[in-house]
Amino acid sequence: MATPHINAKDGAFAETVLMPGDPLRAQMIAETFLEGAEQVTNVRNVFGYTGTYKGKRLSVMAHGMGIPSASIYTTELIKDYGVKNIIRIGSCGAVTPNIKLRELFIAMGASTDSKVNRMRFNDHDYAAIADYTLLRTLVDTAAEQGKKVTVGNVFSADLFYGVQPNMLDVLSKMQVNVIEMELAGIYAVAAQYGARAAGILTVSDIIPTGEATSAEERQTSFRDMMEVALDAAIK
Ligand code: ADE
Repeated sequence: MATPHINAKDGAFAETVLMPGDPLRAQMIAETFLEGAEQVTNVRNVFGYTGTYKGKRLSVMAHGMGIPSASIYTTELIKDYGVKNIIRIGSCGAVTPNIKLRELFIAMGASTDSKVNRMRFNDHDYAAIADYTLLRTLVDTAAEQGKKVTVGNVFSADLFYGVQPNMLDVLSKMQVNVIEMELAGIYAVAAQYGARAAGILTVSDIIPTGEATSAEERQTSFRDMMEVALDAAIK
């Protein structure tokens, strides 16, 4: 049955859904990497597709920007469409220049300045973590492909503009080396509704220096990340 934000038929999604932030990226992934991909939902132009990859059924759907948007789509996919595995594929900003542009980063945990997990967890601090099996599959797949990845704690920020300057020092000191905007919410939604989630990110910018990937570099690093995510998704 359709939900307020997804108008797909029952059973329209595969057990595993790859989730970029951007709907057009979801469309591009479906057209480039999936065979026989069909669009299964388009509410608010947040596109979702199901097809096959190396013979296995696989879906891709955007989650939008920020924890509120990502929480809506992941909740409805898991609760109403029976999705079991969610792999976020996205970009992140590095907190220190020690992390290099285009690096692949797998999020073992996600810290946040959002209050959503305190709302879920009697106002205590919930440790938002990736599913271990999914995390390990991503790490192993990257190793098989000869790709270097960093595994660590990310910061899921509510503000893209306006992160306090001293926050970068705090994050760096606590070994939280990249910022993105969704995983703390996605990991908690997966836990709440009994699914598995993990995230793989490419470093698109170095926050303290303002350095950012060129369009061409973004394409290469995106492909590197997609190869890992796709092969991990069908294991
Ligand atoms: N995603 C990519 N770069 C980011 C940044 N600098 N802050 C938050 N999310 C990001």
